[in-house]
Order: sequence, then structure tokens, then C-alpha cells
Amino acid sequence: MNTRILDCSEENLLYAAGIIKDGGVVAFPTETVYGLGANALDAEAVKKIFAAKGRPADNPLIVHISDLSMIEKIAAEVPPTAYKLAERFWPGPLTMIMPKSELIPSVTSGGLDTVGIRFPSHPAARRLIELSGLPIAAPSANLSGSPSPTNAKRVFDDMNGRIPALIDGGESEVGLESTVLCFDGGGVRILRPGGITPEMLSEVCRVTVDRGVLNELEEGAVARSPGMKYRHYAPRAKVIILRGSAESFSEYIKNNAADGDWCLLFDGSESVGDVPYICYGSSPDEQAHRLFESLRELDARGAKRVFARCPGTEGVGLAVYNRILRAAGFCVTDLEVVK
Ligand code: TXA
Ligand code: MG
Repeated sequence: MNTRILDCSEENLLYAAGIIKDGGVVAFPTETVYGLGANALDAEAVKKIFAAKGRPADNPLIVHISDLSMIEKIAAEVPPTAYKLAERFWPGPLTMIMPKSELIPSVTSGGLDTVGIRFPSHPAARRLIELSGLPIAAPSANLSGSPSPTNAKRVFDDMNGRIPALIDGGESEVGLESTVLCFDGGGVRILRPGGITPEMLSEVCRVTVDRGVLNELEEGAVARSPGMKYRHYAPRAKVIILRGSAESFSEYIKNNAADGDWCLLFDGSESVGDVPYICYGSSPDEQAHRLFESLRELDARGAKRVFARCPGTEGVGLAVYNRILRAAGFCVTDLEVVK
């Protein structure tokens, strides 16, 4: 099977919607990252997603909708707070977990009795869902364990030959996956941070950030979100986060860098001698936008070990930090302590 790359024309979206209606899988752009979509209500179609990605069967998929009324068909019960959040943040990079209805097969929910629902804002994603007339289950369109793809080339790198078609919508705007939350009394608990930040959510309700967002799951503990227990977003290179000032970073590199080492810098103003580097931006929005592409680029350049500048955790920074922490397998060196 050769994977066709198609632009976002109405004709191509109709073709892609036809594949979904026939029980097939297509990759499509969203404002966060690219998704790998199939009919969320069809267990056989959803199994093809798991096969294409090599994804563990216990990791549930997010179901994408294009109209608020679809939520009542796929959720058994919609908490009042969900409507308030939907009004404020949908369409957009927010996934809300709620009890699933019987229409959602257990393959889609990874065996759980809940379903994560998201109404994306990307026009091509919305149109694809509308034209298929179905809720679309879609994980990120990468091979399981790799960084999520933020452009069509990276989807093609991972999925060529595994799916019939890929809709090319250019670079993903946010660059990191959606914020995933569940309901907790009248408030919410963030299981995966993303473009909708704790600060933004707390304007609507009480917000807790789950311990798993910034900490490694303890041996034997049950993840509230199965995705948290897998080593995620990881490039082949070994990533080490260096926490500290630009000066202490430069000092550390001068004393420790060896052949095959690369740096992942903010804006390149850090001095790293002749150690090769890639920049992922100085603001959290830029860092979110570029992180996954930078990790893939470092692999393409043959980096063996990567020393990364440590982002802040305010606003979207929390999502950037959460992803880079996983890419690094929780390996963080505190430079001010080392000194
Ligand atoms: O931005 C996004 O969310 C992208 C685009 C394509 O929409 N999708 C995405 O899907 O990132 P995926 O499958 O790569 O990540 C979904 C995460 C996983 O960590 C999964 O464990 C968690 O959400 N999740 C999904 N449904 C859940 C549920 N019912 N309960 C707990 N966690 C859930
Ligand atoms: Mg993913």
C-alpha cells in the first residue's frame, strides 16, 4: 500500500471521509499534532489504528467531534463543568474524560469505561468529521513511542505503507498534544498538560495538576491516564535536561561534551563552543511549536546524546516541560547543585 499525500481540498476531504465511513484509517492535521483517524464506533476500524501505530491495546484513544451535540451520543453522563469548559475552550486543544456510552466499543476506550472527547479547531479536522458524519477516534499519527508528528513529512516517515491516505495541512499550530483532564468533584484534574493551561482552566473551575504530570510513576502504581506509564515522545538519542542559567549550561557543556553530543538550546545565545546544536525557541509557545520537530531532527542528524536547556513551567511551559521530561526519561541534572 502506498500512502497518498493529499491537500485539504473539499474533494480530498470527501475522499478521506469515504475511507473513514468504509472502516479505514487516514491521517489528518489538527491544531495540536497530526492524528490517525478511524470511525470511533467501529471496533474493527479502530483495531487498524492500533496495528498501524504498534500501540498497546490498553492505551485509550481520544474521540474527536465537530459539534457539541455529538458529546451526548458518546458520553453516558456529561458533568455540568464540561459544558462550561466546552463553551470557553472548544473548539480547541482540550480533551475531557467522562463516562462512555455503549456506542463506544471497548477497543476505543482501551478497556476503560470512560472516553476522552475533543472538539478540534483545525478547519480540515472539523470538516473531515462533518463529512464522515461520525465521531473519529484519533491518537497522534506517530509510531508508538516516537515524538508526535507536527507536519505531513513526519507522518509519512512513520506511516508510509501503513495507511491509504494522509491529509497535509502544513505545520501544526500548537505543536504539542491537547490538554487531557478528568472531572474531580466540581473541579478538574489535569492528566496531560497542553495548550489550554492550568491558569486558563482555573478561570472556570478548581484545577489540580496530577502528580504524574511532573513525576515518574512509582513502581506498581496505577496511572490515571494509561499514556503516562509509557516512555513517550522519545527520540533515539539519550536526552539529559540541564536545569540552570545559560552560564552554568555553557560551563557544563565546556567540561562534559564529547563526540556525538548535541545541544538543544533556547535561541542560540548560549555559548557551547563547537558542540552542534538546534534551537527550540525562547518563549513557551515557540518551544511547544518546535519541540517534537527538534527531537526528530536531532535523530535525523545522528545525535547520540542531547543536553537540553530546561524550560519554565508557567503557562504552556508546563506542557513543554512534561514532554521533554518524558523524552529524557526523567533525567534532569541540577547545575546549581553540581557546582
Ligand atoms: O492533541 C491530541 O490530543 C492529539 C490529536 C490527534 O487530537 N491526540 C493525541 O492522542 O495526542 P494520543 O492517543 O496520542 O494521546 C491520548 C492520551 C493518552 O495518553 C491516553 O492514555 C489518554 O490521552 N487518554 C485517552 N482517553 C483516556 C481515558 N478515557 N482515560 C484516561 N486517559 C485517556
Ligand atoms: Mg500520542
